[in-house]
Amino acid sequence: MRPISILSALLAVANAHMQLHYPAPFNSSNNPYLGDCNADPYLQYPYDCCGPNDRWTYPCRGYISLLGTPQGEPTATWQAGSTQKYLLRGIGNHYGGSCQVGFSVDKGETFQVATSYEGNCPHRNNGDGPDGQDFPFTIPADMPTGVQVFAWIWYNREQEFNMNCAAVEITAAADPSGVYHGSPAAQASASSSSVAVAYHDRPEMLVADDGNGCLTPHTTAELKYPLPGPDVVMGDGVYPLVLPNGTCDAIGQQAYQGETGEDGH
Ligand SMILES: *[C@@H]1O[C@H](CO)[C@@H](O)[C@H](O)[C@H]1NC(C)=O
Ligand SMILES: *[C@@H]1O[C@H](CO)[C@@H](O)[C@H](O)[C@H]1NC(C)=O
Repeated sequence: MRPISILSALLAVANAHMQLHYPAPFNSSNNPYLGDCNADPYLQYPYDCCGPNDRWTYPCRGYISLLGTPQGEPTATWQAGSTQKYLLRGIGNHYGGSCQVGFSVDKGETFQVATSYEGNCPHRNNGDGPDGQDFPFTIPADMPTGVQVFAWIWYNREQEFNMNCAAVEITAAADPSGVYHGSPAAQASASSSSVAVAYHDRPEMLVADDGNGCLTPHTTAELKYPLPGPDVVMGDGVYPLVLPNGTCDAIGQQAYQGETGEDGH
């Protein structure tokens, strides 16, 4: 079996198609707090899937407004410093890509990285999940407690941006004074860093392919993050890792919300 031909086949199929499954994101069909509302059927699609104004839904597909409402109740409770896992599901894993997860503690103004997965995210050989699409990561030990926003951002190799968010309850660390030395997942990975990085000193999650002048690889290469943070999980190394191009270096680079139309590809 030649991976490259599988990838070519997948690249020919537009577009997306994975979403965060656990913790259940805002307005997802598996969110127990949906109530009488209709679920958003486009959570697994990229932000410019569905019309020129669609990318205005950054961040979180526009659902930050649900925070603090009955539909925005936390769908997971996580202790700071603990190791948890998130799950993905969808109808096409695009044979991988690169992902980041992180948190916003300021209601969606900024998103700090918890863990970066460089390549093989989603797991290319494990189907469309949620079984087989689980990703362990560690909650930063010094994270502020309370209801916070967990975010997952995925770049496949079609310059598509997808981001799903979930409300989660963060509880106090068992040892809040403990020095953070990197997650078990990152420690198991070749490129891990054991440098302690405080939550508020972590880089912001990369935003690209959203009309903001930053473009991820549009080849077989998988994305390498310019600022991956201290917890990096390397993929399987089947494809090269390539940095994004364009205006990607600004801290807190976010989607340009006034732009409409194509991403420039
Ligand atoms: C969820 O998405 C559906 C479909 O787009 C929309 O009709 C509904 O208003 C959304 N629910 C909330 C609570 O925003
Ligand atoms: C970035 O630009 C260089 C030089 O033009 C090119 O070789 C490379 O493929 C580009 N990478 C991306 C991710 O577009």
